[in-house]
Amino acid sequence: MIALVTGANKGIGYEIAAGLGSLGYRVGVGARDAARRETAVEKLRAAGVDAFGVPLDVTDDQSVTDAAELIERLAGRLDALVNNAGVSGEMGPGWVQDPTALDLEVLRSVLDTNVMGVVRTTNAMLPLLRRAASPRIVNVSSSVGSLARQTDPDIEMPIMAAYAPSKSFLNALTVQYARQFAGTNILINAACPGLVATDFTGFQGPRTPEQGAATAIRLATLPDGGPTGSFFEDDGVVPW
Ligand SMILES: NC(=O)c1ccc[n+]([C@@H]2O[C@H](COP(=O)([O-])OP(=O)(O)OC[C@H]3O[C@@H](n4cnc5c(N)ncnc54)[C@H](OP(=O)(O)O)[C@@H]3O)[C@@H](O)[C@H]2O)c1
Repeated sequence: MIALVTGANKGIGYEIAAGLGSLGYRVGVGARDAARRETAVEKLRAAGVDAFGVPLDVTDDQSVTDAAELIERLAGRLDALVNNAGVSGEMGPGWVQDPTALDLEVLRSVLDTNVMGVVRTTNAMLPLLRRAASPRIVNVSSSVGSLARQTDPDIEMPIMAAYAPSKSFLNALTVQYARQFAGTNILINAACPGLVATDFTGFQGPRTPEQGAATAIRLATLPDGGPTGSFFEDDGVVPW
């Protein structure tokens, strides 16, 4: 079984790669920086994972096309694609993105990675996924993209005017893909890792990257007939 994880050089993506590797998957470590990619591949191999590096910047058409060609050459198909690469965009004090002062360039760059990057990568990998017996796509989202939670007065959520809507958009896209894949063997779902201590959060957060990886790993390895077009976290379904 062959998997590709984007943004797999560190954090949650690295642990998704490690987890899929421990289940016997051959794992493509998608990462844009050569040194960080090679370090991660070496570390995964030392842990017994059959890992290979995939140069991949999800914001770059040519890079994504080249990544698909590399996987075609090395493996000829793809069983699981995990769209994990993501950015928060610049934050103001208190980890807030104030919509009334939002820099449109920040918004553009967040959407380019978190939304367009997923479409770009998914569509480039689809011909390879269609060759697998049971293709799985996982979009690593966030519960801050849940409009139900954002509007629930009992839940405390930071104001993140670029990042949170990028994940709402990603969730909505996941549904559109699931509808398009209806009647095929492709399952696509969104995963929330919870609040995880990584570079992304300044290493604040109660969960480890390994815990954050668990739902994405589960969704990447769903049996045939499993759910599609849904949004999950450890405890079950996240409301839209
Ligand atoms: N940490 C949390 O609490 C949390 C909560 C909810 C959702 N998430 C989501 O979980 C995912 C992983 O986050 P994390 O916490 O593991 O963050 P992280 O440690 O900052 O890792 C992010 C990864 O994405 C990669 N990346 C960023 N832009 C990229 C691009 N254009 N092309 C390819 N790779 C790119 C980074 O590569 P570089 O090393 O080259 O920058 C890095 O490997 C993200 O989608 C994030 O939104 C995280």
